[in-house]
Amino acid sequence: MKLTIIGSGYVGLTTGACFAEAGHHVLCVDNDERKVKTLLAGKIPIYEPGLEPVVRKNVASKRLQFSTNTEEGVAHGEVVFIAVPTPPQADGSVDLSFLEKVAREIAVCLDSYRVIVDKSTVPVKTGERVAQTIRRYAKPGVEFDIVSNPEFLREGSAVDDLMNPDRIVIGGNSDRALALMQKVYEPFVAPVLVTDINSAELIKHAANSFLALKISYINAISEICEAAGADVEKVAEGIGMDKRIGRSFLNAGLGYGGSCFPKDIAAFIAIAEQLGSPFTLLKEVEKINARQLTRFMDSIREALWLLKEKKIAVWGISFKPNTDDVRSSVAVNLIEALVKEGADVSAYDPKAMDKFRELPVSKKVKLADSPLAAAEGAEALIIATEWPEFASIDLADLHKAMRTPMIFDGRNLLESGAAQTYGFTYRGIGRGVLPAPA
Ligand code: UDX
Repeated sequence: MKLTIIGSGYVGLTTGACFAEAGHHVLCVDNDERKVKTLLAGKIPIYEPGLEPVVRKNVASKRLQFSTNTEEGVAHGEVVFIAVPTPPQADGSVDLSFLEKVAREIAVCLDSYRVIVDKSTVPVKTGERVAQTIRRYAKPGVEFDIVSNPEFLREGSAVDDLMNPDRIVIGGNSDRALALMQKVYEPFVAPVLVTDINSAELIKHAANSFLALKISYINAISEICEAAGADVEKVAEGIGMDKRIGRSFLNAGLGYGGSCFPKDIAAFIAIAEQLGSPFTLLKEVEKINARQLTRFMDSIREALWLLKEKKIAVWGISFKPNTDDVRSSVAVNLIEALVKEGADVSAYDPKAMDKFRELPVSKKVKLADSPLAAAEGAEALIIATEWPEFASIDLADLHKAMRTPMIFDGRNLLESGAAQTYGFTYRGIGRGVLPAPA
């Protein structure tokens, strides 16, 4: 099939590349000329494991093409996907101006029937608005249908999530559009759930906020574990063995971050409020999430007293492992908090240091070439992102490098007790303090 994707960000680019890999002829449109040039050269502007070879292969076979021209895009695809950013506004609601602009641009180019699919994460009832907008700007009589087809990919495993999805959600009100969407997804082996447009839009917000709720739930338990002298890892294991609950997304830590959860939870709260059904439970989820970093900073102060002039090493800057994305990263918030209190921060991340250099706080942070270099002479080490390579650092070498052997493990990456045997004082999340042996 001929498909068009408007917007070549994380979701648009990965979706386009995977559709091409599945055999479709895909044209990705983006208004950023520099980005399009980079992509045409088979290079990708983000770090996403496995994506670059898929892009390169499909660009070479001409199944994946790029353009800056929306008109060309609308002429090319029987189905036109919109995957533009829907950033948050100060009040938590979503800025839909990119989406609205693209809807107008598509409308004026429409000459014959097209299915216009929203892939961007949007509040419920946005599809209705897009349909009204296109109708208003399109030539009279031109036919189109609107479909909502939310994306559930995770950064760091986006290609696999797209090629092997848990489910495909298609929200639409027309048989003609639904038949074409079934054809788009024919090469993928996954259950397809067909719904109305509003339900599909709600599924995305409800899924992400449920996952965030799971994280905040275990984080709230981690606070109780610390107070009671229990181990949250064991509690998570114990409750996760119940098939109705499951172990995933029960990792206690510094809280969730990234470009999706914080934004989507705020947006869901905002739309629920607008609809007259306030979602107070999610407000609590946000509060618990913010409290994890506050409590962690408290525990660092409790151990080191004042942070001014203290040399503190931070391992991990990205919002989670296997990505270079630092948007709404709790690790970045943590570094900002340390710098604000006058700490002398040296940090290391395997992939995210270039993106971090674009943030103002980076000017006040030393970026090291390796985890051990970051820890050299440090009075405390903080693990802020659970990159697997941090777990295999030789703890004896680390002990030698540091001035005082103290680890604050914000992601419970290290085995409980492991650091202690090397003479470290170790503090994880919801595990209490394990003092260095006398
Ligand atoms: C998320 C959803 O998982 C995905 O389905 C949706 O399409 C986009 O949003 P992503 O933001 O890429 O994906 O990352 P995810 O792996 O879900 O992690 C989000 C945040 O939660 C990270 O900061 C991560 O560190 C944190 N997290 C995750 C925890 O703190 N504990 C957990 O148990 C799981």
